[in-house]
Amino acid sequence: MALILAVETSCDETAAAVLSGCGGLLASEVWSQASLHAGYGGVVPEVASRNHLAALPQIVRAALKRANATISQIDAFAATSGPGLPTALLVGMACGKALAIGARRPFLAINHVEGHLFSPFFGAEEVPPHVGLVVSGGHTLLVDVAAFGECRVLGSTLDDAAGEAFDKVAKLLGLGYPGGVEVERIARAGDPARYDFPRSMRHSGDFRFSFSGLKTAVRYLLDRGPVSLPDVCASFQEAVVEVLVEKTLSAAAACGRGLVAISGGVSANRRLQELARERSGALGIELRLAPPELRTDNAAMIGYVAALQRARGVAGCLDADVLPSIDLEAFGRLTAGV
Ligand code: KG4
Ligand code: ZN
Repeated sequence: MALILAVETSCDETAAAVLSGCGGLLASEVWSQASLHAGYGGVVPEVASRNHLAALPQIVRAALKRANATISQIDAFAATSGPGLPTALLVGMACGKALAIGARRPFLAINHVEGHLFSPFFGAEEVPPHVGLVVSGGHTLLVDVAAFGECRVLGSTLDDAAGEAFDKVAKLLGLGYPGGVEVERIARAGDPARYDFPRSMRHSGDFRFSFSGLKTAVRYLLDRGPVSLPDVCASFQEAVVEVLVEKTLSAAAACGRGLVAISGGVSANRRLQELARERSGALGIELRLAPPELRTDNAAMIGYVAALQRARGVAGCLDADVLPSIDLEAFGRLTAGV
């Protein structure tokens, strides 16, 4: 089985993974820089890139050691080319290319959102037809997937991503960064029906999202006087999760898919999982989530896309540039390009 080494540096996680074909995860090292950025209330791009530069050699060495492999045994190298912070992406891309040149092996540039999108199927040689919801700090995207390399973006967010909304509301409430986990923790003791926050775009009749109005509604509520923190967290979380689940299931019906998959950092949210399970179960639609360690940023999901590409004869390209923004029109055709 071909060995693949993948690196991921699109935001504030420095990660490397070694895979044996599509199925075997031999190592997945993730170093989160979150504590370095927490004091700023968000990721500082230059701090992220400098730390990727300093940490990546150690992370790659640790992944190889855990996989019990040497550079010369690696058959192909991969790195995230975007979307993400340009200077952070450059570090991982330069590292992946340098390793590939040194080892005289191919280099594959991988789309981060595709990494998330296919992560619920990690290990499988084929990606089954489904509707995928990617919910992370940077993206909220509904995608109809006929097969690997045959995707169509159904809709995305008009403003904030779902994870970004969690992070911004956490900041308004004086909670730490990243905010999603904190909001979820506090929401457990709260009443989700206490505050009636807007469900933006719920009846828009399409698959687009908007979360900035919800964040503003939380700010207005806080300006009006004292609130119950657990009730605000629970009501806010419910508003986000309800729209995500409803739109995903309507998309499945519209596309005639009996399977939905949810991925990205926000898919770690238990209330999202619970509501998705309940509503999809009622409709007889199967639900797939990524394994817990593949929900937030990691290099294993990048290696998996690279392995799927290699299995389909994608040769790779040392000329690949970083692509900081997502091109919704081109998305999904990326994997088909040899
Ligand atoms: O996928 P990810 O690691 O990075 C991006 O590609 O953006 O996602 C990070 C996002 C952050 O916004 C974080 O607050 C959110 O995922 N997140 C959560 C939870 N865990 C992480 N949001 C809600 N509930 C959670 N349990
Ligand atoms: Zn991500």
